[in-house]
Amino acid sequence: MGARAAVSDGDQTERLRARLGARCIVLVGMMGAGKTSIGRRLANALRLPFLDADAEIERAANLTIAEIFEHYGEAHFREGEQRVIARLLAGGPAVLATGGGAFMNAETRQLCRADAITIWLKAEIPVMLDRVRKKGNRPLLKGPDPERKMRELLEEREPVYALADIVIGSREGPHQAVVSEILAALDARLGESASP
Ligand code: S3P
Repeated sequence: MGARAAVSDGDQTERLRARLGARCIVLVGMMGAGKTSIGRRLANALRLPFLDADAEIERAANLTIAEIFEHYGEAHFREGEQRVIARLLAGGPAVLATGGGAFMNAETRQLCRADAITIWLKAEIPVMLDRVRKKGNRPLLKGPDPERKMRELLEEREPVYALADIVIGSREGPHQAVVSEILAALDARLGESASP
């Protein structure tokens, strides 16, 4: 079956939606792993709303993430991030893309693991760096050596991302292929545990 047929399989969509119930699908992983672009396509395939935690934080604060970091600091951003994600998770089924540091927060992680299906989008450093360089809007990578910073962050975060329910490789190439892989993994995972 080709990627196109797999993502538009109506039976699979209905089955996954039913098994998911009120739970969200939460995408975690590093900056540049593709959480937003893959998340949008995944939501589309499942006919669920797509939510982007960073965009919601910016809307709530009426400031960009860079401005929040600059004016109020990272700790303040993390508090807002925790609140916003808790609110979004309570809002019913959706695909939720989280910022790269969100799953490092123990409370957020506990909420996600209890009430949602978590997916770590795992990508190689050069792929992620290439994607974030194009935008240049990540305050944590503003320093002189973004590659080194990314390596340090990844080293610290990888064992925590690995606690996600599902791990999917996010590579270059068509995102739709990654979405098909996620749908198959969700099918396997949700087949094991019926929705509450
Ligand atoms: C961050 C990742 C960003 C954003 C903020 C901090 C991180 O989101 O939340 O710049 O700590 O890795 P993306 O992962 O969507 O880039």
